[in-house]
Amino acid sequence: MNICCIGAGYVGGPTMAKIAQKCEDIQVTVVDINAARIAAWESEKLPVYEPGLLETVKEARGRNLFFSTDVDSAIDGADIIFISVNTPTKTYGIGAGKASDLKYVEKCARQIAKVAKTDKIIVEKSTLPVRTAESVKRILDAYGNGRTFQVLSNPEFLAEGTAMADLDNPDRVLIGGEKDEASQKAVQTLVDVYARWVPKEKIITTNLWSSELSKLTANAFLAQRISSINSISALCEATGADVDEVAYAIGLDSRIGSKFLKSSVGFGGSCFQKDILNLVYLCSHFGLTEVAAYWESVVTMNDFQKRRLSKRIVSALFNTVSDKRIAVFGFAFKKDTNDTRESAAIHVCKDLLEEGARLAIYDPKVDPLQIYQDLGLELNSEQITICTDQYEAARGAHAIALLTEWDAFRTENTDYAQICTEMEKPAFFFDGRNLTNLDEMRAIGFESHGIGKV
Ligand code: NAD
Ligand code: UGA
Repeated sequence: MNICCIGAGYVGGPTMAKIAQKCEDIQVTVVDINAARIAAWESEKLPVYEPGLLETVKEARGRNLFFSTDVDSAIDGADIIFISVNTPTKTYGIGAGKASDLKYVEKCARQIAKVAKTDKIIVEKSTLPVRTAESVKRILDAYGNGRTFQVLSNPEFLAEGTAMADLDNPDRVLIGGEKDEASQKAVQTLVDVYARWVPKEKIITTNLWSSELSKLTANAFLAQRISSINSISALCEATGADVDEVAYAIGLDSRIGSKFLKSSVGFGGSCFQKDILNLVYLCSHFGLTEVAAYWESVVTMNDFQKRRLSKRIVSALFNTVSDKRIAVFGFAFKKDTNDTRESAAIHVCKDLLEEGARLAIYDPKVDPLQIYQDLGLELNSEQITICTDQYEAARGAHAIALLTEWDAFRTENTDYAQICTEMEKPAFFFDGRNLTNLDEMRAIGFESHGIGKV
């Protein structure tokens, strides 16, 4: 069997590496129009940082895992084609700022329709609005030529930073198809691929629309929990309650559960906001105004949370950060990834730059060029300095803003006593991830602030 995956990004790369690792007899080719990305997948420095990914890629690369820019050949030779291209929020025209931009998906469908000479199973791996499969199928079928295309939905639930473990042992694999026999045969073919390593009871099959909508719903529910606890963090700061204690207490209720209740500077990442806005757009489209408003409030609360920390920093620093050096610990949207898309750090840094601060930024994995780009700065801008470690960043700083929960920033891995001696006084510490014990930091000499803590 031959598998082709269109899109060699954070989803296409890791998912296909896992399939290739687990199914030695299946040839997997990952293709992309971005030649630099493909070259990086073939090198020692992969374009995506994920713990365990390089090892998995190395195990299969050249054996049954290939990376290529020759999209046409890979389509032609494949039995199953995964579409794993980006589906960003539309920035123009109808639905701008909310709807998903499906132009990349549509281009894939047209390219497959033009190039394929034999029957294919097309798998939507990208996150898509409900009923996209219908449009994909119409485009594929419109070109005729006697080939048959089965379109399935198989959304991806991996989280960055834990992608390889998530793929190894997923909570579930979801496959949506149509009721007819040909579609069900295609569903079974895909089930059989996953069944090589995923227990059968974890592979669930539904109709196409349920599968597409489940993906948006899962992300909306996860993000909603974070916004819920973040809303409570603001109340904790006003009342003297401690958000971590509240989260722990409510999380012990098995009906609530403990996961995704970690209050933070706000959720980031390429998907939560985009997928909720997409859901909001869908609801509005179907005239469900109240439902749209309900979900939109999850994003509104997140925007509020991101702004709250920068305001607090300015206010604590005697209402001005102008010309003050502020050390930024972490820039990725979460630990163990080099991804900065929608990172809360971008918003906090922009706010502080607007107030005239000079930022000294250190992130263990993010490419410095990406940081300049995300902050909209020229490469030689003196407004920021990219540092090689947290010690360099903090030297001479008035404050530290810890924005990504990298293990390297835990008190057992960073000598904060040493750092404190080299800072301006009072030395302020803002823990945007509640990663440290604020009392310990105070004992060291910091004026410490956390999220949802007085
Ligand atoms: P990405 O931007 O990292 O990768 C997408 C890749 O597709 C890019 O490299 C781009 O060059 C390529 N591409 C676009 N159009 C193409 C075309 N016509 N032919 C060939 N290549 C093309 O995106 P991603 O983070 O991997 O996300 C992909 C999809 O998966 C999105 O729909 C996203 O919502 C979903 N998703 C992402 C995650 C995640 O953790 N990042 C998790 C689950 C689902
Ligand atoms: C999320 C989902 O968890 C995945 O299931 C989904 O496949 C993926 O989106 C997607 O569709 O792209 P991801 O964004 O990679 O995965 O990472 P998460 O662990 O969900 O974290 C998202 C953001 O929420 C991060 O900024 C993280 O720091 C923040 N977060 C997470 C919190 O602030 N508190 C928490 O308790 C959990």
